[in-house]
Amino acid sequence: MKSVINTIYESKIEELKSKITTLSVPVQLTIVTVGDDPASKVYVRNKIRLFDELGLECNHLTLAEETTVQADLDALAANADHPILFQLPLPNGLTAPDLPADIDVDGFGSESLGQLVLGQNTVLPCTVQATIDIISAHCGEHNFAGLKVAVVGRSNIVGKPLAIELINRQSTVASFNSRSDLAAVDWNKYDVIVVATGAHGILDNSQFIEGQLIIDVGINRVDGKLVGDIKHHHGMVTAASITPVPGGVGRLTCLHVLGNAVKLIECSQG
Ligand code: GUN
Repeated sequence: MKSVINTIYESKIEELKSKITTLSVPVQLTIVTVGDDPASKVYVRNKIRLFDELGLECNHLTLAEETTVQADLDALAANADHPILFQLPLPNGLTAPDLPADIDVDGFGSESLGQLVLGQNTVLPCTVQATIDIISAHCGEHNFAGLKVAVVGRSNIVGKPLAIELINRQSTVASFNSRSDLAAVDWNKYDVIVVATGAHGILDNSQFIEGQLIIDVGINRVDGKLVGDIKHHHGMVTAASITPVPGGVGRLTCLHVLGNAVKLIECSQG
């Protein structure tokens, strides 16, 4: 799977570089973080690194956990005139402002999500786009219709928007969550299984068969090691293709932060 991910990465980055040369406005992004969540630090560093590598402007605002109030975040959103994102999770019950679609680089706001539900042109949340890229590369970009896909997880940032995007593409979608009776599910009837629950071990590699594509979206830390949601039994090799963690979906998500920023500029240029 690693080589498939690398091939997707290389082709997307070349596509983005050439798109950027056609823009008449520079690509800009503001990333807002509050406090110092260790996982957020890693994600944000990767996003900034990509912008730096391409010589693009990425503004990082770091706000102190003790003094930041909701009104500070709302004011940043209200005054933003270019793509902005609020890195999640936010501490102390703070919530990311509901951004208008034209600056919503994450695609998490109600306007962007409404456009997604209605099948309109919009930016997809970056992890959703990365998952779609992997399915496209593995199953063929024209083969979504009729594909049987199980989505395990119902978060607003992955599970729900992914299920909707797959429905838009005419896949047959089954949605599961942590309250589903997962032990009773016949996983072998799905072509693709996407696991995005944030719970390591919710499924394991012995449950899949040859020909299936398993996309592990989870990023968990167990005994100091980064692992996905799928437990890999020591010494047990599965015939299914399972994306690795790290180096799987996560490797592609930063690319789509940039891709979405580019798309928002293209849309504003008409
Ligand atoms: N935290 C984990 N993933 C994401 C993401 O894609 N966007 C934001 N804003 N926060 C996250």
